[in-house]
This record gives sequence, C-alpha cells and structure tokens, in this order.
Amino acid sequence: DDDELRTIYTFAIQLAKDAGKMLLDSLYARRRDGQDGRTPSNPSNEDVTPQELTTREKLNAVDIVTQTDLQVEAFIHAAISARYPTHDFIGEEMYSASHSGATSGTSKEYRVTHKPTWIVDPLDGTVNFTHGFPMFCVSIALVVNQVPVVGVIYAPLLGQLFSACKGQGAFLNEATRLPLLGSAGVGPIPSDAPRRCIFSCEWGKDRREGPTGNMRRKVDSFVTMASEVDGPGGKGGMVHGMRSLGSAALDLAYVAMGSFDIWWEGGCWEWDVAAGICLVHEAGGLVTTANPPEDWEKGRVEDAKLGGRLYLAIRPASDCESGETARQ
Ligand code: IPD
Repeated sequence: DDDELRTIYTFAIQLAKDAGKMLLDSLYARRRDGQDGRTPSNPSNEDVTPQELTTREKLNAVDIVTQTDLQVEAFIHAAISARYPTHDFIGEEMYSASHSGATSGTSKEYRVTHKPTWIVDPLDGTVNFTHGFPMFCVSIALVVNQVPVVGVIYAPLLGQLFSACKGQGAFLNEATRLPLLGSAGVGPIPSDAPRRCIFSCEWGKDRREGPTGNMRRKVDSFVTMASEVDGPGGKGGMVHGMRSLGSAALDLAYVAMGSFDIWWEGGCWEWDVAAGICLVHEAGGLVTTANPPEDWEKGRVEDAKLGGRLYLAIRPASDCESGETARQ
C-alpha cells in the first residue's frame, strides 16, 4: 500500500546517502594515499584509512570493478536483506561478470520476476570513479511486477540526490520537483528531434567486434547526426550537443531533470537503468526500447521493459508545474 511504499522510499533514500558516503570515503582515502600528498578536502573524512584502490578487469580493460563496488554492494545487500528479507536482490557485482561474457566470476543467472526485487548498482560510472571524475553514483531501485516503483540515484561528489516513488513525482535533493523549472530543455520536445536537442549517449564497454563493429556503427551514426548541415526544413541534423557522461544512471537522472533531451544506449543492464526509469517516468518523460532516429520517426514509443539491452529516454515534454517544493 501507499504507506508501505513511502516507508520503503524513505529507507532507499537513506541507504543511498549511506552508500554515497562510502563512495566518498573511498575516493578521499585514495587521494590522501596518492602521489600529491594533499589532505582530503572533505573534513568529515579525516579518519579514513588510506588505501590502494584494488581494481579487477571483467570483460576487458574498460569493464572494471573496484574493491569499492564490492564493499558498497555488500553493505547495501546486507541492509536490504535485514530490513526486507522476503524481497529479491539483484546487484551488478553479483551477476555482471557472467553476463559480460567473462570467464571468471560468478556464473549465477538472474531473472527479474514479479516478486518485489531490489536492483542495485553500487557504483555506476566506475571508470569515472577510478579517474576521480565526478560523474559516478549509487543507483537503487525497487521493482514490483517488473515495474520500477522506487528509484534513488545519488552522486555524492556532485551533491545531487535524485529520487522518485511511483505516483509521487521525482525530486532533486528531496525538495525540488523534476523536471527543473528553467532548465533550457523544458517545454515541448522539438518535433524534429534530435534537432536543437542535447543528445546523450554512452560508449558502452563491449569491444568484441573491433574497430569496424557495432561500436563504430554507433559512433558513426552520432557523428552523422551531430555534423549534418541544417538543410531545408531542418530535418535531421543540427543537434545542439552530444554528451557522454560515463554513467547511464546519471544520464537518466538528467533526462528526468530536463537537462538532456534524449539519451540512448545499446548495452545496458537492469542495474544501469531501473532507478532511472522510475525517475524519468515520475518526471513525466518516456523510456522506450528504440533505435534513434529511425524508430522514433516510425513512432515506436512503447514503454521499455526491463530485460532489454537497448534504451532510449526522452525528457518530459513538460509544461507541468515544476521546480515546486515537495510536500514532505
Ligand atoms: C556502466 C556505465 C556506462 C555505460 C555502461 C554501464 P558501470 O556502468 O553506466 O556509462 O556505458 O553500459 O555498464 O560499470 O560503471 O557500473
């Protein structure tokens, strides 16, 4: 019921905050241990023990897992199991080794059933994290009947916590309703999208096909879109910008915020998108499984089902009330 969902939502937000603090502690501990010998800029982390960042490669050199991913996932899993012992749990680090085709790691299979299931990425944007680039986050979702009903994405170095609960809207830092009032994207999405859009896409991690393979085709189609001349009628080209953050979860959060008009990725897993789907839906946007731009021209805009690998998100075409303060 609504009260129970609200309690779960509050629990998920607190869990994301705690996990985000672990991410920051790990980041600052690394800095103190690093070459420059600087002290952490976060005073609350003075007692953090310096440590090496242990990194292991999964599918290839861009598909990595750090000790931090594992520790944070273990923490989240334990907290959820203690509080909701009958719920299922799917975490990236329990499953991704087998799914990315690696020969080592767990070989367990997973399936999103109709049972209440927590789907968690303890550290989305792992590569960013290892480079100290701030676009990393923890992503926590509760999925019921295969529909994400709670989603929390917290990027601790950015100080941005995105949260959504089915039927209750999506929020930034628990106070500001999404999409943001005043973000340039808010308003009707151009009918000739991606023209005049900010388009975000990710490189993914699959390099098996080599330089002429799938990734090359994807990049080529983006370059074509970005560089097309503004012909009569303005069809096709002249996107305002192409972006690639390195975190699918944050891409979706920024679609919910109205900052990105469109996000597309062809190689996602449930833990990359479950929380973000809830955010985009609650902000009034759309997540579908489609190929840009040909599918949207054909009007293929059905809701995305968890379990696909290809996702396209379109920001809220919103003239709804936004930026208002949440009623707590
Ligand atoms: C990855 C990031 C990346 C996306 C990959 C994801 P991870 O997640 O979201 O942007 O391109 O598809 O797997 O490994 O950093 O948690």
